[in-house]
Amino acid sequence: MSKSRDFLGPYRLARLIRIGSTAEVWEAVDDTDMQKKRYALKILRPNYVNDKAELAALKHEFNVGKALNSPRIIKVIDHQTDKGRPFLVLELFSELNMKQALRQGPDSLAFMLDKIIEQAAEGLYYMHTKNWIHRDIKPDNYLVARDGETKLIDFTIAEPKRTGISKLLYKTKNIQGTRSYMSPEQIRGKLCDERSDLYSFGCMLFEMTTGKPPFTGQTPNDLLSKHINASVPSAVAHNKNVTTEFANLIKRLMAKKQDDRPPSVWEFLKEYRTLEIWRKRPRKPDISVFDDMGGTKSAEDLVKRPTGPTDDYEEET
Ligand SMILES: Nc1ncnc2c1ncn2[C@@H]1O[C@H](COP(=O)(O)OP(=O)(O)O)[C@@H](O)[C@H]1O
Ligand SMILES: [Mg+2]
Repeated sequence: MSKSRDFLGPYRLARLIRIGSTAEVWEAVDDTDMQKKRYALKILRPNYVNDKAELAALKHEFNVGKALNSPRIIKVIDHQTDKGRPFLVLELFSELNMKQALRQGPDSLAFMLDKIIEQAAEGLYYMHTKNWIHRDIKPDNYLVARDGETKLIDFTIAEPKRTGISKLLYKTKNIQGTRSYMSPEQIRGKLCDERSDLYSFGCMLFEMTTGKPPFTGQTPNDLLSKHINASVPSAVAHNKNVTTEFANLIKRLMAKKQDDRPPSVWEFLKEYRTLEIWRKRPRKPDISVFDDMGGTKSAEDLVKRPTGPTDDYEEET
């Protein structure tokens, strides 16, 4: 007989997938269901259950996700609280996020990157058609499966797209996002639109083709100032197998001015479908990054890395 502490609502916590800074993600089984359906539960960590901002963020993620219904986006099924622990019930999918895969180098996904990019863009496009700006597009927020199927997650800081009068009334807010992927306008606390997500998407494509984000810095501020001032690097300079055409498209996604970027994900996709990513098709690695996963993750994956300034400042969540 399972102990009741292993349950939240009808869900039996089967396996810890990942511990983030504020939430834990578990694989869970609905024991009341005949088919014993499996879900992912995103549960606030004990020290955050009374934190108003984190409670609101989880609720916000539910409110954004519940209206999104696409195979390219993780379904957000419910928001519940049990034993004082608020949690989201999510569709269970491959637990490997793209950042983890890229830690093994860009070759781990290169042989199926065409499919991954297509699906990653479709997820973002769908979100935009529902009038949401994601604002935290990065490799960590895409899950990828062995066959290249890709889904977008984590709507914690998504904002509604503003048009007309609400656009004019927008006031500069607290700056949120992940430094390695933030557009100049997001860094300045200005209004973000589809093109801000496209900027982040460009940074992500740079990393997926080269293994490194486009900018790093000595300090967090140094990194941010590079998004604003530094010239945009070309992926070709870091990986000779990237075609010039694709590297140029990535550069346009990362243009400093919104007007110089493709106007929508749809326009990006149209262009993307006409070109090749690679000069020479990459080989499938002998050891798949998916075979490394097992039930337990390495300590590095279980506990987020400290975010203090380092020599090569890369990321912050
Ligand atoms: N639906 C899911 N199925 C499987 N794994 C998931 C799912 N959602 C999240 N995860 C795992 O948990 C990690 C953190 O999820 P995320 O929603 O991005 O939380 P955080 O707000 O901490 O960034 C993901 O990178 C992934 O490894
Ligand atoms: Mg995340």
